[in-house]
Amino acid sequence: MSISRRHWWQAALAQALGLGGPSGLWAQAPMEANPFTLGVASGAPSDSSVVLWTRLVPPNPYRYPWADVPLEVRWELALDEGFTQLVQQGRHTALPALAHSVHVEVTGLPAAQRLFYRFRVAGFISPVGQTRTLPSPQQEVGSLRFAFASCQRYHAGHFGAYRAMLADQPDLLVFLGDYIYESGGRVGEFRGPISAAATALNDYRELYALARSDPALQAMHAACPWLVIWDDHEVFNDYAGGPLQGQARWGSVARRCAAYQAWYEHMPVSPRTVLGGLQALLTGPAALQVYQRVPVGRLAMFHLLDTRQYRDDAVRCGIAGLFKPEDCDAARDPARSLLGREQEAWLQQGLQQQSPAHAASRQHWNVICQPTTVSPRLLPVWGERSFSDGWDGYAASRQRLIKGLQQHQVSGPVILGGDIHEHWAAHLHAGPGPTQGPIVAPEFCCASITSRAFGGITSAEIMALNPHVQFSARQQRGYGLVNMTPERLQVQMRVIDDVFKEWPSVGTAAAFEVAQGNPRMRRLG
Ligand SMILES: [Fe+2]
Repeated sequence: MSISRRHWWQAALAQALGLGGPSGLWAQAPMEANPFTLGVASGAPSDSSVVLWTRLVPPNPYRYPWADVPLEVRWELALDEGFTQLVQQGRHTALPALAHSVHVEVTGLPAAQRLFYRFRVAGFISPVGQTRTLPSPQQEVGSLRFAFASCQRYHAGHFGAYRAMLADQPDLLVFLGDYIYESGGRVGEFRGPISAAATALNDYRELYALARSDPALQAMHAACPWLVIWDDHEVFNDYAGGPLQGQARWGSVARRCAAYQAWYEHMPVSPRTVLGGLQALLTGPAALQVYQRVPVGRLAMFHLLDTRQYRDDAVRCGIAGLFKPEDCDAARDPARSLLGREQEAWLQQGLQQQSPAHAASRQHWNVICQPTTVSPRLLPVWGERSFSDGWDGYAASRQRLIKGLQQHQVSGPVILGGDIHEHWAAHLHAGPGPTQGPIVAPEFCCASITSRAFGGITSAEIMALNPHVQFSARQQRGYGLVNMTPERLQVQMRVIDDVFKEWPSVGTAAAFEVAQGNPRMRRLG
């Protein structure tokens, strides 16, 4: 491990343990302009804690005298927007080794509490963010409104979908991956600089800073807490995290570590995310624990999955990742895993906790959040083909998930996904065929915030090939909006009229309802 790699882990560890050093230790370098250029964010909420995030970046990269200096940042958390009723406040050291990012995990907070936060440094003050703690896992909750989103290629359009989402006023946002695209900017794209693919830490940092320069994204981060997972483009297209020996095919270990570090620096995730990865330093570059469970009262348990970091290598069937399922035994090999053995065991344990044996404590709904489609997806390319990068390439992992949901009689299972740049509503059947066996769970995948749908495939072709699919909308950008009560959930597939507008209008392409106890979705409109 290089010294610089060791340096950031040590810095993160010190940050997580609150060992940033006594405040007087750090010299305050002169600061000429407001460094809160990337806005503020919050995330990883629980019933007693929330993570507050910002990162200090000067508006002028050539006026950066504090680039190598640790800086003391003050934070405040209040019940009101005017900060007259402070709940907690403190100091935090923003380290250059972590790009002056700030991750403050505030604990000891009241449950189900709306809160406001801001930061100060060197006489400058940040925008005000709004966040909330969650209800306690034992508490009955009447309703929850949350949004889910994925795939925001900066160069492909404005993030105006977030303006529409702001007006929907979700309590929570679940981001399902492809926050940046490592491929950089190409000639002829809508906006942004042209750049080579990211390979080093600074390349990835610049892509995150570019994304966060969008005012609509900043506003949405400031509006409510986010739960975040990642997909491939945070690192490299279609990469398999897998064992170290697979790295020659998927890019260097250093690239993956740089990408993971930049992700951590820009996401409102707990510093404990890094601590969870320290053990992995001994054995390889598996770095950050992204998978997590988040209960929202008795109403919902969110199971957020990492389908990248621990997966086995992709099957070598077909061409360009597209294979005929009947010709690829490897895709059904039970020895292969999309989640890795440890995460699969963790997931099964979580599902077991949601069985009728735990009726007194389990949640009404179990929301499986992952980047792509769990149900099978055939594409009309060179006949009928599946894509090796998703669950179709790891069919045994899918069957184990299905079996877990069935065997433990998990209450109200729902699957959320993204990645395909298409609104998609489908029934996940027990299998083995896409419509064989009983329906196990409804699945809703959201269209992208900006990224274009692939190729010239139509929604009609998708639906004809995939009879378990209830709805498909390609060529439209948007997000999903969920209204949840103990009895039912409603999903709206929100679409914007124009990805090239900063302020697009928004509509609902389709809406569905799922009643508790019946996984079959019903279309509302
Ligand atoms: Fe994507």
